[in-house]
Amino acid sequence: MKSLLIALFFLNGALAQQCSYYPDSDISISPINYEPGGMDDCCKICEYTPGCGAFTWSGYNGGTCWLKNITGPLIYAPKNIVGILNKNVIPSPLPSINKCTMQSNTDIPGNDMINIPNSQASDCCNLCYLTQGCKAYTWSSVNNGTCWLKSGTTTSNNNGIIAGILTPATISWTLRETYDSTNFYSKFDFYTDGDPTHGYVDFVNQSVAQQKGLIAVNSNGTIYMGADHTNKATGRGRKSVRLSSKAAYNGGLFIHDLVHMPVGPGTWPAYWFIGPDWPNNGEADIIEGIGGNTKNAVTLHTADGCTMRKEYQQLFTGTFADGKNPGVPSTDCFIQDW
Ligand SMILES: *[C@@H]1O[C@H](CO)[C@@H](O)[C@H](O)[C@H]1NC(C)=O
Ligand SMILES: *[C@@H]1O[C@H](CO)[C@@H](O)[C@H](O)[C@H]1NC(C)=O
Ligand SMILES: *[C@@H]1O[C@H](CO)[C@@H](O)[C@H](O)[C@H]1NC(C)=O
Ligand SMILES: *[C@@H]1O[C@H](CO)[C@@H](O)[C@H](O)[C@H]1NC(C)=O
Repeated sequence: MKSLLIALFFLNGALAQQCSYYPDSDISISPINYEPGGMDDCCKICEYTPGCGAFTWSGYNGGTCWLKNITGPLIYAPKNIVGILNKNVIPSPLPSINKCTMQSNTDIPGNDMINIPNSQASDCCNLCYLTQGCKAYTWSSVNNGTCWLKSGTTTSNNNGIIAGILTPATISWTLRETYDSTNFYSKFDFYTDGDPTHGYVDFVNQSVAQQKGLIAVNSNGTIYMGADHTNKATGRGRKSVRLSSKAAYNGGLFIHDLVHMPVGPGTWPAYWFIGPDWPNNGEADIIEGIGGNTKNAVTLHTADGCTMRKEYQQLFTGTFADGKNPGVPSTDCFIQDW
């Protein structure tokens, strides 16, 4: 039986009408209209333009939104940014952005990271793009096609081999939102239903949490949240809190500064992202430590029919717990830290 000391940030709720952004890309169809604007304006302009489902933003004339009626495959277009309205179906989970300069009859000797079977040389670019430390690839027809991901870029001539060199990404980050002592608890909803994972826990609302000292803002600006650790748990279980953010996010860089996280029997601190209609829109568990776990469980859950490329196992110290056989669909792909 577990009672949960949970500090959960649970990201879900109705998606606001926002856009998903794809840097260095374009949609290769003619625009239905265009309007001057910054990248942030384009999303709103598209939302209020009948027939608009996506846009490309470029620096033309100081910033222009090129409104598009459909969302199509993305193409590589340096410095342009594609935005797709959330109500529209994104064509594939990963935009097929060709960010590599390809050269025939060229090899990149040595610098090998991993080899991945793939019949098409053009697919190697996305694999390299998604692999930390990969700078280039070569493709050869060995075993009906193999991508050889490379950590270096020095080329030499070699008939029949195709080399691709990754164009360095030009993504820059802008601070969009800060959760701190001035606004923290106003940015979350308090979850008070039964625990979906059947813990012996009573998730309380904000006023009860405040009154019982389960949440607080310390005078030094740190945020406290915890479970009742002084009373014997009765009834529905140990009083604790589970929070889900009011905002929903499609991506970004999230920086989480933790001073302390509990460990030990009965605890289950966690910080995760979850999409609507679980598990079809995925779950990314960033911090999760149950009971006496000494390692963090970073897990990614997906809908049925997922596969992971087992070759990637070589690039990190954790393990693929499921879905590790390419081409053999699994019901739940996840990765763990041990
Ligand atoms: C989208 O716009 C293009 C360019 O104006 C046009 O050729 C095409 O027929 C439109 N497609 C749809 C589905 O409206
Ligand atoms: C290559 O593809 C052919 C035709 O699909 C197949 O018969 C053969 O077994 C494959 N070879 C390898 C090494 O996968
Ligand atoms: C919070 O929960 C307590 C106990 O269940 C309940 O009496 C109270 O009305 C709730 N407050 C709000 C604002 O929902
Ligand atoms: C802030 O104050 C709390 C409560 O007094 C204390 O537990 C915590 O260590 C302090 N944090 C920092 C970073 O000083």
